[in-house]
Amino acid sequence: MISLNNKRILLGVSGSIAAYKSAELVRRLKEANAEVRVVLTKGGAEFVTPLTFQALSGNPAHTNLLDTETEAAMGHIELARWADAILIAPASANFIARLAQGRADDLLSAICLATSSTVAIAPAMNQQMWANAATQENLQQLKQRDILQFGPGDGNQACGETGPGRMLEASQLAAHVAEIFETGLLSEDTVLLIAGPTQEAIDPVRYLSNRSSGKMGYAIAQAAAEAGAKVILISGPTSLATPPRVERINVRSAQQMFDAVMQHVAHSDIFISAAAVADYRPVRIAGQKIKKTEDTLTLELQRNPDILAEVAALKNAPFTVGFAAETENLEQYAREKLARKGIDMIAANLVGEDIAFEADENTLLVLTAENKQPLARASKFILGRQLIDIIAKQKYNVSI
Ligand code: PMT
Repeated sequence: MISLNNKRILLGVSGSIAAYKSAELVRRLKEANAEVRVVLTKGGAEFVTPLTFQALSGNPAHTNLLDTETEAAMGHIELARWADAILIAPASANFIARLAQGRADDLLSAICLATSSTVAIAPAMNQQMWANAATQENLQQLKQRDILQFGPGDGNQACGETGPGRMLEASQLAAHVAEIFETGLLSEDTVLLIAGPTQEAIDPVRYLSNRSSGKMGYAIAQAAAEAGAKVILISGPTSLATPPRVERINVRSAQQMFDAVMQHVAHSDIFISAAAVADYRPVRIAGQKIKKTEDTLTLELQRNPDILAEVAALKNAPFTVGFAAETENLEQYAREKLARKGIDMIAANLVGEDIAFEADENTLLVLTAENKQPLARASKFILGRQLIDIIAKQKYNVSI
């Protein structure tokens, strides 16, 4: 069973009879848990109506570049940014030629030009059109620009001829889309990750905690699993689903998180500390619910173990990545933490109203002793993948 958990797939449909298979493709992508938006060229909409794709994808199907209503809601730039990957299926000979020329005279071609995400095509055309030197030259150009090509298959064609040019089946295409995210960069590694908040009990019903939702850490866990790593996620209390192929261990307090980390760290190659671990816990946990008899209440607190620093200090420490959540002086404070905790890398984030804690988006400044790499504001899933790429490159000595 393929997984496209939390992936945003933009499906482009250009003018070819194979467009009828694209309706099935939307279903396959959705079954794999992708969010799907469909953009049709004028030719594509001649074969299957936008309404069909709207019903199957659960999102409005897009067709026009210069439609004021569409541009105001989600225009070509937003769609280009929204997509984690773009698949054009079917990609007709005409659309391939326009893509090779870098045209932006309709919505789908403009999106392809405006995106920084992976673009893939699933060619579909008559076998003579496929064999034509013009088509083959166009395909060469697209390959040089890192545009992926899925298929075509060989066999009977709608025009009655036989040969190469058949669009691959929906299930094959969905599997290829999933492979885009399977980088294999960490296939040799075990990644131990802590995420979410901790809860420090005051009495049987109250605790000290923080605003961490776990989203950042879970997104990194998912990206690490997609990069082929064995992933152990030690999680504070969250409402999030465990990403596919990730082993999750639930804890509540910082001390429990520390104990679980120490139990697993010896077999880990990489340790990532995205959790918001409470620095202090109450010295005493009341056995019964504390009654409000006084006007003021004083809690005595004691330091929790610094999990990240303790891992970094181990004799055979894994490659250790910390986070820094700051409200000011981001780089300076993060650099101080990098040095003080003796870790290999730190991902710093500025805490704001709609960013970092609880939010779906974040920005990161990734620092090592020698380097810095800012990661622009994006969904935590995109940032998780970017961070895993950087960790893999750094660990395997490819300069960042
Ligand atoms: O969970 P989300 O809602 O998605 O929000 C994400 C996040 C903002 C929580 C995340 O991106 C983040 O910044 N996590 C670290 C938060 C934090 O506690 O930062 P800090 O600067 O206080 O701690 C520095 C580092 O030491 C962190 O890696 C932390 O995990 C670690 N630490 C801190 C205290 C402690 N006792 N043990 C630790 O290991």
